[in-house]
Amino acid sequence: MHVTALIVAAGSGTRMGGDLPKQYARIGGKAVLAHAVDALLSHSKIDAVRVVIGEGQEDIAREALEWRDVGDFIIGGATRNESTRNGLAAVETSHVLVHDAARPFCPPEVIDRLVETLDGDAVAVVPVLAVADTMARLDDGGLGEAVSRDGLVKVQTPQGFRTEQLLDVLEQSDLAGAAATDEASVIRAAGLPVVTVEGHAKLEKLTTPADWARAAREMEQDMV
Ligand code: CTP
Ligand code: MG
Repeated sequence: MHVTALIVAAGSGTRMGGDLPKQYARIGGKAVLAHAVDALLSHSKIDAVRVVIGEGQEDIAREALEWRDVGDFIIGGATRNESTRNGLAAVETSHVLVHDAARPFCPPEVIDRLVETLDGDAVAVVPVLAVADTMARLDDGGLGEAVSRDGLVKVQTPQGFRTEQLLDVLEQSDLAGAAATDEASVIRAAGLPVVTVEGHAKLEKLTTPADWARAAREMEQDMV
């Protein structure tokens, strides 16, 4: 079995704000995208890493990644699934791990769990993390009904798939439009099984300035 890590970095980082899309901003002196690439490139079970970027971002992506070997960049699309679909065309291995560039820290043990599950012939596998907070709906801007957190999880990336099957589903599914924010939900909606493995707190996505502040603080602590 051979595995390519496909890192999708073609988003605009609207919720984060800032001068640059968040994947190109630096944390601990290194671009978020470079952190994500290093975590996957350095893992012995990953054969290649490819990166999907936004149109016109070649220079900034090259500057962020410096010497790292990720082959030619692939240009993404207007939606997340479109970016992934474009990227899959450049994947030459039987299996793929699709990963958010906005998740810079990927512990090697999570990759081990994902690859092991794919090797056991799973169609799809995702890391999940139990929800710790009290959950509720919003009701007219106020607090609505509480939602039990039993059985609720946060779905993280990298997400593992058989390359050709993921491409087929993304090409055929109506869901693979603006609505889907990952690939596992599209596979699931197509009626295919998705296995879960334990995720990791360090894999949390950087979405808002508060996420950024927390990640920067944790990184400083790790470096002491
Ligand atoms: N992504 C992508 N192509 C898109 C949209 C998103 O490659 N058309 C990528 C982002 O670059 C990111 C990952 O998907 O690495 C997760 O998306 P998200 O956290 O939503 O990032 P953005 O879409 O960039 O942020 P926002 O939604 O706040 O604009
Ligand atoms: Mg987005």
